[in-house]
Amino acid sequence: MSFDFDTEVNKFGINSIKWEFIFDAAHNVTQGDHAHPKHGTERLLPLWVADMDFRCPPAVVEAVVERAKRGVFGYCMPTDSYYEAVINWFAKRYGRSIQKEWLVMTPGVVPALNLMVQTYTQPGDKILIQRPVYHPFTFAIENNGREVVSNSLVLQDGRYQMDFDDLATKAADPDVKMAVLCSPHNPVGRVWNRDELTRFGQICLDNDVLVISDEIHCDLIYKGVEFTSFANISDRFAQNSIVCTAPSKTFNVAGLKLSNIVIPNEALRTPLAKTIERTGLLGTNTFGVVATEAAYNFGEEWLTAVLDYIEDNYNFMRDYLAQHLPQLHLLPAEGTYLVWLDCRALELTAEERKKLIFEDARLYLDEGEMFGPEGAGFERINLACPRWLLAEALERLKLVLNCGE
Ligand SMILES: Cc1ncc(COP(=O)(O)O)c(C=O)c1O
Repeated sequence: MSFDFDTEVNKFGINSIKWEFIFDAAHNVTQGDHAHPKHGTERLLPLWVADMDFRCPPAVVEAVVERAKRGVFGYCMPTDSYYEAVINWFAKRYGRSIQKEWLVMTPGVVPALNLMVQTYTQPGDKILIQRPVYHPFTFAIENNGREVVSNSLVLQDGRYQMDFDDLATKAADPDVKMAVLCSPHNPVGRVWNRDELTRFGQICLDNDVLVISDEIHCDLIYKGVEFTSFANISDRFAQNSIVCTAPSKTFNVAGLKLSNIVIPNEALRTPLAKTIERTGLLGTNTFGVVATEAAYNFGEEWLTAVLDYIEDNYNFMRDYLAQHLPQLHLLPAEGTYLVWLDCRALELTAEERKKLIFEDARLYLDEGEMFGPEGAGFERINLACPRWLLAEALERLKLVLNCGE
């Protein structure tokens, strides 16, 4: 089957965060209408939040439409066929054997992170993250009255690495109770390898630090790169960790709000289930269940095709920059559709960069500072868009940087 990722899907009037809203640095939201035809060629091009511009797999659309046609939307529960679809996906693709009882469903990975912070740590405890990193990690920690400790990534020879000496020092602090791993890492695009994960996990184990491995991007891996799930490394790691999974990034169904949190250790699973009960977050979204089952059962061919397209977008962007904008450096990408652009050579402040990109070029990107001070001078760009849109965005950048041939 062939899939069309080039044709623009009409995003106007669907309440799309990416295409119809604007968030400022203080998280105030205003309604934009950047998809409205009235803006023509002047419209704002959004390459920010982690949503794809593509229609999700046809099998998912069909399953959701068929379910909607029944016209009843009462409470629902996942059935055995749902669990089978999830379990088979991870067994087939990653050799992970998950048992049904290990799966805890939540309305997203971010809600799960907040619930886990509340369940496994106390106010005032410290939680380790690796900045620059997906900013809701920081929010989940700070909004719950815990303290962030950053074992910041280091950029060595053009590639981000973990700083294990720093990790060992920080994990030894008895107040550090939990570490949140982003694997693959948003925003720097690293897919942590077995050796790195082993060193990370061993340091956490030695210091009694619980590992939360956010593997939401695990299916979005570039050719020649292998993804290893943290819990697959050893049983001791599996017992000292919780792996967060979801179909949302893989199949572009984030609005259906469903994630599967994998917890083999009963002593960890039971208290999380209690927190979920206390918050009243029991129950699942009907369409989330239907879409997840269809995606894991029938979405693999679409996934292969979309990954090829995204990787071609990456290569296109890399070549374009090399030819037209050599002062911008694109970091190598191993996974995710989010790429990390080094703009430090422009020597602009965050405000100057923002003006140039947002106001002059009319591009909506994610500024690196959002992911922690370690992201200063970078931009995160979402490549899950039609190639012509990416080309248009790069042309605009070239124009405002005034360095065309
Ligand atoms: C690393 C990471 N975790 C979690 C999420 C969002 O999770 P959810 O929408 O399931 O809350 C994202 C979205 O971009 C992400 O990049």
